Amino acid sequence: MEDKKVQILIIDLGSQYTQIIRRSLRYLGFKSVILSPEKSLEWIKNNNPKGIILSGGSASVYDVDAPKIPKEVLDFNTPILGICFGMQWIAYMNDVNTIHAVKEGKSYGPVEINFDQNNKSVLFENLKEHINAWSSHGDSVSSTPSQFKITATSKNNSVIEAMECVDKKLWGVQFHPEVEQTEDENIILNNFAEKICGCVKDYSRKDLIREIGDYTEKELGNGIAIIGVSGGVDSTTLAAILAPKLKEKLKAFFIDTGGMRKNEVEKVKDIAIRAGIDLQIIDKYKEKFIKEVGTTIDAEEKRARFREVYGEVFQDVAKNFNATHMIQGTLATDLIESGSAGGSALIKTHHNVDLDLGLKEISPLNDLFKFEVRDLAKEFGLEELVAKRQPFPGPGLYLRIIGIPVNEELLEIVREADYEVTEILKKNGVYNKIAQTIVALLGVKTVGVKGDGRVYGYTLVVRTVETTDFMTVKGFYLTPAICEEISSALVKHPKIVRVMFDWTTKPPATTEFE
Ligand code: XMP
Repeated sequence: MEDKKVQILIIDLGSQYTQIIRRSLRYLGFKSVILSPEKSLEWIKNNNPKGIILSGGSASVYDVDAPKIPKEVLDFNTPILGICFGMQWIAYMNDVNTIHAVKEGKSYGPVEINFDQNNKSVLFENLKEHINAWSSHGDSVSSTPSQFKITATSKNNSVIEAMECVDKKLWGVQFHPEVEQTEDENIILNNFAEKICGCVKDYSRKDLIREIGDYTEKELGNGIAIIGVSGGVDSTTLAAILAPKLKEKLKAFFIDTGGMRKNEVEKVKDIAIRAGIDLQIIDKYKEKFIKEVGTTIDAEEKRARFREVYGEVFQDVAKNFNATHMIQGTLATDLIESGSAGGSALIKTHHNVDLDLGLKEISPLNDLFKFEVRDLAKEFGLEELVAKRQPFPGPGLYLRIIGIPVNEELLEIVREADYEVTEILKKNGVYNKIAQTIVALLGVKTVGVKGDGRVYGYTLVVRTVETTDFMTVKGFYLTPAICEEISSALVKHPKIVRVMFDWTTKPPATTEFE
């Protein structure tokens, strides 16, 4: 099968949303590529794209060190959509004589966009008269160059939100149509690609799966790769994609860390069989994990120790298989949160990001987002894995014993409590509406009374949240009846005297307790 042709070139001008433009186009069925301004000209000459998108960026067009888009990009007669900085650059290039083509005036956050009904742009076909959109800019265009017309403004007309010159095949939007907060359901990018550029929707999840396989095969060459499969959607889907392609060159294994959910090992084995993955279960390091992680109560130190043992196990496994490469199911969001992408800050050390094991790393999913991986999982009949299981962190139950050293007994309490809560939520028909459920044990003792006797025992906290991408979350509120059912079930354990519920948003609270 031939590779699908790239139809749209995205020129990256430094926006934090550039990847999201590509993701949205992929979702709509159009293949695109992201390139720096320096590489763009040569690429356009050789590949003749149907459309070009100029991303946003934090610079001002007047800055000496602003990204330098070659102005010859305008000479190809190819439709161009400039977003934010991209639009300002178009204004600037078409009206260099107007010194204040672009003015300062910061705007971050939601903005109501009014589309000019007399000058209705093809770009905004099938949209309502007004939409709420996301803006994030320092400068904006103060007056349009001659030949351009204004097609949208902000509510009080203070900002030119869109302009175009159809004859020159140039369109600009000041707001960000690519992000979720803009309520356009991707119609604007779809109109640009389909109606303006004449692109065809020919990029399916099968193409993406094939590309992931081809890319990994090429990177691996004659090497042997290990892949840790956690039973989570990312690593399992990736192993399912690669197993038929790499055959015996792929060694898939599951590490039982001792911090797994109840029946986890059996479930993961099941999933692997269904996905066609030949999976080895490695459980001889359980005690080592508990012993090493249990020596601290500090959240980051715990993760560091977990990561250390995890790394050692990986190294052992790699040696046994004579591996040359390690394949990771790391996603775009993991890299953002662990501070490995762009200039984002470290929130939590992830146990599997930047593990230096002396093996070459291949991360074929690192420009994909969670919902896309869930979509790919469907291709392998892994719906149950996708629809019925909530995410679970690599360090597992170790992150759910707070303020007290982890030991086998406490692990068993949270494991059993997690199972009971899950069953109650399923029985009440809400489990699938919740993005993640966390049941954690707080290591502070409080007084309780059981069977007429005083008990000095622990507290379990139940946290249920909603989200699409885990970058932000909000509480999923349970009904009083469900809360009561959960607390009655959990206090049956002799060492538990209280149950609390936590629906704090992220930020400031993270999803997990540590
Ligand atoms: P936070 O707590 O950062 O969690 O809001 C966001 C999502 O990431 C999961 N998580 C982890 N996953 N290793 C993982 O594999 C980790 O160290 C880790 N920490 C958090 C968390 O369960 C939630 O789904």
